[in-house]
Amino acid sequence: MSLKGEIRVSSDKSISHRSIMLASLAKGKTKISNFLFAEDTLHTILAFLKLGAKIQIFYRDKEISLKDTFSLLKINPLSLERETYIVVEGLNKNISEPDDVLYLGNSGTTTRLLAGILAGGVKYSVLTGDASLRNRPMKRIKIPLESMGAKVYLRKDNYLPMTIIGKNLKGISYKSPVASAQVKSCILLAGLFTKDKIKVIEPVKSRDHTERLLRFLEVSIKEDPKIEDKVFIEIYKNKDVEKYFEIINQIFSKENKVCLGEKRNLISDKEIFIPADISSAAFFIVGALLIEGSKITLKDVLLNPTRTGIIDVLLKMNADISFDNVRVENGEIVGDLKVRYTPNLKPIEIRGSLIPRLIDEIPILSLLMIFAKGKSKVKDAKELRVKESDRISLICENLKKFGVNIEEFEDGFEVEGLSKEDILKNIENKKIFIQTFLDHRIAMTFKILEKVLNKKFEFENEDCIKTSFPSFNYYLDILENSGGEKNNE
Ligand code: S3P
Repeated sequence: MSLKGEIRVSSDKSISHRSIMLASLAKGKTKISNFLFAEDTLHTILAFLKLGAKIQIFYRDKEISLKDTFSLLKINPLSLERETYIVVEGLNKNISEPDDVLYLGNSGTTTRLLAGILAGGVKYSVLTGDASLRNRPMKRIKIPLESMGAKVYLRKDNYLPMTIIGKNLKGISYKSPVASAQVKSCILLAGLFTKDKIKVIEPVKSRDHTERLLRFLEVSIKEDPKIEDKVFIEIYKNKDVEKYFEIINQIFSKENKVCLGEKRNLISDKEIFIPADISSAAFFIVGALLIEGSKITLKDVLLNPTRTGIIDVLLKMNADISFDNVRVENGEIVGDLKVRYTPNLKPIEIRGSLIPRLIDEIPILSLLMIFAKGKSKVKDAKELRVKESDRISLICENLKKFGVNIEEFEDGFEVEGLSKEDILKNIENKKIFIQTFLDHRIAMTFKILEKVLNKKFEFENEDCIKTSFPSFNYYLDILENSGGEKNNE
């Protein structure tokens, strides 16, 4: 069945986390609209409540109790998304020391960003998480935080639980070996608690939402290269693909340097609107491209160039996509994205500086690759092995079950495209079991493949989708039933 209609997918996870964190550190009240209610972001809310922030959630204009925050996820997710807002009364950086271990579930972003804030703001804290999070590398933040003067203790010197002995930090000029927004943000947030020089250099610019939101809250930040949003708005308006790639190359072919300026107090009494998550939109984009007759519109999608690697790939694969209504909303580029079914997709090679710009989309992009005409390849993506699961291994293992010819490398994979008919033949009379290792993006990828092939698979715990996108199935339903929030025909 084709996908049709118009929806606004759930809001951006990265910005949702940061909105709670920075509003909690700010002086004044912040209203947050369009927050993403998912397990990961609820862990951020819980953590900041424990640091003393006053966070109120209003559903249908009535304040709801935060005693059992996760019961929020029992509300119909569509209604929760549309009829809820949050008010945060900030602490002006005077956070209190948590009196217990902070449990952060599956959320790497909460852990690494919060670690910077705790190192700067309190003397003693301990962080832990679920089995997946306890397997993710934390030495990457221990190294810079220790050179700022904190003490960070880790299990096997790399893993949670993590104990941070902090306060009275000094400055740092840190050259990060990885392009990681979590590492960069950890240092910048720790840096809010000192007056010393704070500089982070990364091999290529990673997502810059921390910088944008800090600037929105009146903190001074210097960046080189800095993205000129106006230039991108013009490019989208004029549908100037050549210029898009020219500017993208200019920005992402060099090191990124970020410094905190002198103004390090966050000033609020502002409202933050969070755009729709391009990483969540990606699942429906790929579904629509692969399912015959599909034609969808995705509203208010975040189009920040640090996140549009998937757009580069779609343009290069000849996908039928177009943009509308592109604009800047509280410091982020957003727009509507139209996608139509596209047969004969070209194969693609994804590597180098493109990787950080689409790191979370590689699982779902692997579906485009298996249906493209020819060999596609992902390289330089070793980071995928330390995400919520070892994504390189899970993509390869799961795709092999469909008779796909896929070769695994340490830093990626190469895959040969097949036709839908070939894949259907390969799985005839077979029961397919999808391993997820609790990884939400792996689960959603294969839920889309179910729709593309019009088949049912068995999943290892598909409930993990709630980590980032509890309304995933609701939106899929809307698009399948051609209703959309507005029908496109
Ligand atoms: C994120 C940064 C990325 C991304 C993650 C969210 C963020 O991780 O994969 O899903 O919000 O800062 P790294 O910083 O580890 O690359």
